[in-house]
Amino acid sequence: MTLKKDFLWGGAVAANQCEGAWNEDGKGISTSDCMTASYHGKVREYTDGILEGKYYPNHQGIDFYHRYQEDIALFAQMGFKCFRTSIAWTRIYPNGDELEPNEKGLQFYDRLFDECLKYGIEPVVTISHYETPYMLVKRYGSWRNRKMIEFYLRFCKTIFKRYRNKVKYWMTFNEINVINFHPAMTSGIRIGEDENFYQVIYQAAHYELVASAEAVKLGHEINADFKIGMMMMYPTFYGETCKPEDQLCAMRQIDEQYYYSDVQVRGYYSNKAKAMWKKHQVQIECSEADILSLKEGKVDYIGFSYYNSNVASTRPELGLTDGNMVNAVKNPFLKVSDWGWQIDPIGLRLAMNNLYDRYQIPLFIVENGLGAVDKVNEDGTINDDYRIAYLREHIKAMKAAVEEDGVDLMGYTPWGPIDLVSCGTGEMKKRYGFIYVDRDDEGNGTLKRSKKKSFEWYQRVIASNGEELD
Ligand code: BG6
Repeated sequence: MTLKKDFLWGGAVAANQCEGAWNEDGKGISTSDCMTASYHGKVREYTDGILEGKYYPNHQGIDFYHRYQEDIALFAQMGFKCFRTSIAWTRIYPNGDELEPNEKGLQFYDRLFDECLKYGIEPVVTISHYETPYMLVKRYGSWRNRKMIEFYLRFCKTIFKRYRNKVKYWMTFNEINVINFHPAMTSGIRIGEDENFYQVIYQAAHYELVASAEAVKLGHEINADFKIGMMMMYPTFYGETCKPEDQLCAMRQIDEQYYYSDVQVRGYYSNKAKAMWKKHQVQIECSEADILSLKEGKVDYIGFSYYNSNVASTRPELGLTDGNMVNAVKNPFLKVSDWGWQIDPIGLRLAMNNLYDRYQIPLFIVENGLGAVDKVNEDGTINDDYRIAYLREHIKAMKAAVEEDGVDLMGYTPWGPIDLVSCGTGEMKKRYGFIYVDRDDEGNGTLKRSKKKSFEWYQRVIASNGEELD
């Protein structure tokens, strides 16, 4: 088995990390507009509104809102078959609770999707990617409140209907399991020290899971050809040693992630989920109608992100290292990225096997990549061999999972095909792109785009459907 002929090669971004134009054409404020920059290892949180004198990197992003034509043309040159982006909720419903959408916001995505389709690039849309309308946080407490389901579904209905002939692939929530680690960033929820953390996140996640299931049902009613997926951050976990307790520790870590995908794929909470409620003294407010929705709104595929693997240990004294969204124990067998993330292509193969064996529905790798500091040479060239090496090894592992292990894989969209604002830290110098953007951490720069060495490499990879990797 080789990669499918219609394999979806492409790249992935999120609206808030690239569009900029944060207050143009009627757009409202989202939590990501309220995020300043951070530093290594510390994931950002939103401030209370937009504070004077603070720098908010997402406000300008990479100005994709005004430069999307140039950028899509470059993606087309690389041979993209698809382009994953998100729709900024606050462009469509500026406060989140309006009854009528903002026409100018809708028009922007019409133009964007038309531009993709002009080149035969399929848009893949994340409905909600870490940008809750700020007014929903203020007025309703965000996903703590059941009313969010109604607001989210109104947004879904509007975009499903509007783009029913332009977008086929959807995902309901970006990395739904990351509420476990960063509820403020993912879901607009701050949790007080006196609160039962699990009570808050599992109740909020319940509303998200019901909203997701209802969205799947609604989408299929609007267009039966829609493929609507879930999306999770997959943190492959190894036990630190073969000591049984370490293995148990690794199992527990990954179980906390499967909590969400189990519901989205199978349509119900597992016994293990219920045992977790008991352990953490959680009471979920869940109606009969919710149970039915979960059952009827199962997803069509599993989208997931994978950047690095992690180690779980019974020895807390070992200390933690960085990783995407998770800090875990250092693995002595792996090298790390400039940001301390443990580079592990085999971890991707394991992720694919674990997910496919567990669920038996198609997978879609919708994020993977290396955030690194790039150097622009005097002649303007950028030799990002380290990025090529990272992606090459991950694509090899991905192919092995398909060819040798029989995993059903729809596509591969590496993160940030064009440099963009880092989600975790707000930095620009943490670059993922095949395309360089001239902008620094203080917002200086011309925003000019230029091709890195990896640009042509990825072009060859796509043209050969993953056969030519050198
Ligand atoms: C993923 C997010 O978890 O990681 C993206 O979905 C994010 O939004 C990506 O950009 C990489 O993380 P970072 O912090 O390097 O931008």
